[in-house]
Amino acid sequence: MTDTGPLPPHAAPPGCPAHAGGAVPLAGLEYQQDPSRLYRALRREHGAVAPVLLDGDIPAWLVLGYSEVSYVTSHDELFARDSRRWNQWENIPADWPLLPFVGYQPSVLFTEGDEHRRRSEVITDALEGVDQFELARECRQIADQLIASFAGSGQAELMSAYAHALPMRAVVQMCGMPHTGEDTQRLVEDLQISLDANEGQDPVAAYMRVAERIQQLVKEKRERPGPDVTSRMLLHPAGLTDEEVVQDLITIIAAAQQPTANWICNTLRLLLTDERFALSVSGGRLSVGEALNEVLWLDTPTQNFIGRWAVRDTQLGGRRIRAGDCVVLGLAAANTDPQIWPESYVGAENAAHLSFSNGEHRCPYPAPLLADVMARTAVENLLERLPDLVLAVEPEELTWRPSIWMRGLSALPVEFTPVVQ
Ligand code: HEM
Repeated sequence: MTDTGPLPPHAAPPGCPAHAGGAVPLAGLEYQQDPSRLYRALRREHGAVAPVLLDGDIPAWLVLGYSEVSYVTSHDELFARDSRRWNQWENIPADWPLLPFVGYQPSVLFTEGDEHRRRSEVITDALEGVDQFELARECRQIADQLIASFAGSGQAELMSAYAHALPMRAVVQMCGMPHTGEDTQRLVEDLQISLDANEGQDPVAAYMRVAERIQQLVKEKRERPGPDVTSRMLLHPAGLTDEEVVQDLITIIAAAQQPTANWICNTLRLLLTDERFALSVSGGRLSVGEALNEVLWLDTPTQNFIGRWAVRDTQLGGRRIRAGDCVVLGLAAANTDPQIWPESYVGAENAAHLSFSNGEHRCPYPAPLLADVMARTAVENLLERLPDLVLAVEPEELTWRPSIWMRGLSALPVEFTPVVQ
């Protein structure tokens, strides 16, 4: 598809308002290498709120406008988080690929109102106890271990060897498990399979093993609390049950790992491919900070997020939304909305993007700060240790993972002068 070309039309199921203007399928590979073209085309054809089709031709609304995403996320009484409100459940098969993200679970993600405030406050208080200097020190240690495992060879595939591994180990440690050791290594592998299954792997079985390990961790920390997120959640005056803590710990680990890994990788890609950064990357702290922020505006890890469900019939961006309709937050599209950037200049040095969302369910304070510590330390440490790091392929040979939800590379192969340990 070109920038100016028409969107592929799609047959409209009768009587469904989400298809009034010819909904566009979000599934499939067509836009995944350059989703910004899709957002521009959708905006041109449909305005700030576009009818789309999820996998299996399930209708939903994609919210592309900055002010519309801000409106949806700050009006929980109209657009709520409990997915059981959905008017499409009868059309969803048991093996629907998006079920892991949309199927109701009794975690902080799907709670609403006072119950959400109770759960969210526990997470914020527990994360506030994380010492950011200590976290940076631990991330440097993890980074050094990971780099040591490939530094002698002069080449590496940074997605698997570094960008995914570092935040996972840091978060597991934050929750009270040592980041080394066989037990933790198995947990890290199972988490990776359950979040990002590859062929031949069973994500459900891996998820069950993760849940078991987290249950065991909660039991251990009930008996012997320590200076960690798990213990702070268990000791919090809100009095969460063990099951609630297990659910929310899994949410924290999953919510932290994937986007932070992709933030690291998308930033490294920018630093290694864009000549604006080329002269000063190694040791150039300012430019690492600028690259991290530019990625949140232009290549944000969580591109689209499912979502919210309309509480009652309402209007949004001139569209009639029915009670129970699914509303997808188009965070990447909102960040580049021409209404806020009429000159197409995106404010890489300000932080008013919606990459951490907005409102009651936004990425909870201080999680974005912790993500920043992990990502910044990961990028800076790598560039300090391997100062002549370059891409091992041409920039245009890099491919994005086939997902409209998360933006991250399939692989980031690099070369450098081998380091003798
Ligand atoms: C680059 C890194 C990150 C990005 C881009 C990101 C983005 C997001 C987004 C878009 C949401 C959904 C908000 C909504 O429903 O409106 C979210 C939720 C959440 N994030 Fe993050 N996040 C990041 C890192 C982290 C980290 C490091 C943690 C924890 C240590 C974390 C914990 C959570 C939790 C617990 C939620 C659920 C909040 C709720 O439903 O109340 N995130 N994040």
